[in-house]
Amino acid sequence: MTQITFVTHDGARHVVEAANGTSAMENAIRNSVPGIDAECGGACACATCHVYVDEAWQTVVGQPEAMEEDMLDFAIDMRPNSRLSCQIRVRDELDGLILFVPARQS
Ligand code: FES
Repeated sequence: MTQITFVTHDGARHVVEAANGTSAMENAIRNSVPGIDAECGGACACATCHVYVDEAWQTVVGQPEAMEEDMLDFAIDMRPNSRLSCQIRVRDELDGLILFVPARQS
C-alpha cells in the first residue's frame, strides 16, 4: 500500500492507504476527503478532482498529459503544480505523497 496525504484548506490532513494501480482521486473519494468531488468519475472531463502537488513531489508525480492539461484550464485557481487527481496513478514511488486540495474546492 502507498500512503497519500490530502491536506485541505483548513490544514486538516487526511492520510489514506492507496492500492497501487488505483488513482489518487479514487482513494480520496473512498476516504471522503472534502473538496474532491470527481463528478465525471475519473474520465478527465470535470476538473473537480483538482489538487496541488507538494513541490517536493512534483518531479516524481510528473507532468500532465495533453488531455489533462486542457481540462486543467477549467480548474479553479490553477497553479504550476496543479494536477487532476484522477490522472495520478498510485505506485510505490508515490509513498508519502502530499496533495493539497484547493481552498475554493473545499
Ligand atoms: Fe473528473 Fe478527475 S474526476 S477530471
